[in-house]
Amino acid sequence: MNFEVNNKLRSIRDTYTQSGIKVDKMSKNPLQQILQWVTNAVDAGHPEPTAMILSTIDIQCKPHSRVVLLKGVTENGLQFFTNYTSHKAQEIKDYPDVSLLFFWPLLERQLRIEGKASKISPQSSDEYFDSRPRASQIGAWASPQSQQMNSFEALRENFNKAEQQFKDQKISRPPHWGGYEVIPNYVEFWQGQPGRMHQRFCYRLINNKWKNEILAP
Ligand SMILES: Cc1cc2nc3c(=O)[nH]c(=O)nc-3n(C[C@H](O)[C@H](O)[C@H](O)COP(=O)(O)O)c2cc1C
Repeated sequence: MNFEVNNKLRSIRDTYTQSGIKVDKMSKNPLQQILQWVTNAVDAGHPEPTAMILSTIDIQCKPHSRVVLLKGVTENGLQFFTNYTSHKAQEIKDYPDVSLLFFWPLLERQLRIEGKASKISPQSSDEYFDSRPRASQIGAWASPQSQQMNSFEALRENFNKAEQQFKDQKISRPPHWGGYEVIPNYVEFWQGQPGRMHQRFCYRLINNKWKNEILAP
């Protein structure tokens, strides 16, 4: 181990300077507030402002995390799109409880969401698929997501084959590809503050009603 590098890592310490959460300005509806913070990240020019870490557990209760892109906030939940035969899809089938995590360093904000994921309707998946760029549509047919491939070239060959197959044709959504909606039961807004006095403002669903809590950082 290079201990000098470790010393360097230990000395990295950012000071947070953005203004704090105003409790009376937070929406009663956590989904509305999520939309507000995502919009703030977009407006701040954050790279990949909609990237969120999706964590799932497998049947051995082993956790797995990866980035997916938020593609919509509805009155019920947060939507993302993926391959229904992927590892994450299998894990969601076994255990629909998932967590989502956003980190926006420019805004000194973290957003934690916990809830249950379920597939959205085929019609809604079709609608989003139709709006995707053609190359992404071909990619959805070409990639057996999460499966082992012999080489990167083999993947490229799959792509070229699919491109030929759909030449001059509208590309329909593969049946193995579509959306999920995560319906939250816990949402936590975290704002960095000076002196490590960070703010955690939470929404917890209890008996179908949202209860707010402030947690120590
Ligand atoms: C910035 C970024 C955005 C991504 N967006 C998606 C996405 O929206 N959907 C998706 O299935 N995978 C997305 N991925 C790839 C996933 O992180 C992951 O590699 C893939 O879904 C396979 O995960 P799994 O094998 O656990 O199912 C993205 C990766 C990055 C780095």
